[in-house]
Amino acid sequence: MNTRVLTGITTTGTPHLGNYVGAIRPAVAASRRDDVDAFYFMADYHALIKSHDAGRIERSRLEIAATWLAAGLDPARVTFYRQSDIPEIPELTWFLTCIASKGMLNRAHAYKAAVDRNTAAGEDVDAGITAGLYMYPVLMAADILAFDANQVPVGRDQIQHIEMARDLGQRFNHLHGHDFFVLPEALIEEQVATLPGLDGRKMSKSYDNTIPLFAGGKKQLREAIMRIVTDSRLPGEPKDPDDCALFTIFRAFASQTETAAFRQALLDGISWGEAKQVLYERIETDVAPMRERYEALMADPAAIETILRQGAQKARAIATPKLAALREVLGLRAMTTAPAPAIGSKATPKQGKMPRFASFRDADGGFRFRLFSAEGEELLLSKSFADPKAAGALQKQIRALGAGAAVLQVRSLSVDLELDGATVASTPDCRDEQARDEALASLREALDQLAAQD
Ligand code: TRP
Repeated sequence: MNTRVLTGITTTGTPHLGNYVGAIRPAVAASRRDDVDAFYFMADYHALIKSHDAGRIERSRLEIAATWLAAGLDPARVTFYRQSDIPEIPELTWFLTCIASKGMLNRAHAYKAAVDRNTAAGEDVDAGITAGLYMYPVLMAADILAFDANQVPVGRDQIQHIEMARDLGQRFNHLHGHDFFVLPEALIEEQVATLPGLDGRKMSKSYDNTIPLFAGGKKQLREAIMRIVTDSRLPGEPKDPDDCALFTIFRAFASQTETAAFRQALLDGISWGEAKQVLYERIETDVAPMRERYEALMADPAAIETILRQGAQKARAIATPKLAALREVLGLRAMTTAPAPAIGSKATPKQGKMPRFASFRDADGGFRFRLFSAEGEELLLSKSFADPKAAGALQKQIRALGAGAAVLQVRSLSVDLELDGATVASTPDCRDEQARDEALASLREALDQLAAQD
């Protein structure tokens, strides 16, 4: 079976060289492997957490889609879609929210970092923090679990999120006694280079030190490369390739032979200006054909829209039936049939059917209920209550009791269940004492089953 590899790209900002080398290029390469079933999507719901600038989100979605396609992503091979085109994702987010422990979310890095910043600034701990940021890991878990992804290629900063997705998947599986979700694993590509930016720190939007991939054309690419910080060594002075951003970037694009030649040129004292020109030309060789495709795509957004809608259709072919099954499991069933005894409750899959209560109104308008055994045999009939809440509360008490704690009074041909000295329910009248003893045994068994279920 193919490995399902899934990853999301948050749609804020414009792709830069670091994104290309660190994420886009390896993901496109992986998507071409025959043993990989790739799901790549634009995490535009995640983008809403970071930005309320609609124009920026709209632009970024288009640029990112065009970039991935221009970089060689084949929409016929992969499932390429927008998160916001998949209504099952927010639906699953809610299901997972209801089992996510708040304490786990308190420990999420992004939220904790925001709290720490507030604390350091002497502000209220949650000042300026949205519930969206807080719920970020749950939305991400839904992205992953909705498609039963095996592997999730991410940066190291995202490992905790994958662990939370595993935790939520596991919790759901355990709660409902069946492997509804595949538990994903983070895939950290050790070989993939992290590029330094213009100032030598990691290339990142947040440091404002990026080299654009396509934006601004080759002119801006060259200008950015010329701005990469170097030291003051003069032409003719040897340069240290192992402490040199230019070399690190060069190596991420070049073959081994080219890399060895560039290393030698630096050691031989090539000027920084010339070295930058060599770097620019090497990158431009790879980027130029992609840029041409990028510009054609950007000029035809409707074509991209069509591709993404087809991607959403493919994705939903998986997510829609999956969510339908989950709805059943959670009790959100069509009401066309009588409620099956607790489908998907933790006791059913392993132990078969469970005893159950059935409430009804008697001829005098009072509220009563019966308790049936797992096999459907009537075990108890309650007394009549004027208030349905009292009848409900009693069912709850009985549920919690267990046979050991129940006060069961044997009458001649029936058994009474007593609470606080009063009879609250009785078995039906039995034919003989032997049948009565059997009814008592069944009742005890059912009470234990109910107590164990809670
Ligand atoms: N949080 C990821 C990032 O910022 C983006 C993302 C959203 C994602 N949903 C995902 C990545 C699901 C992998 C799987 O990089």
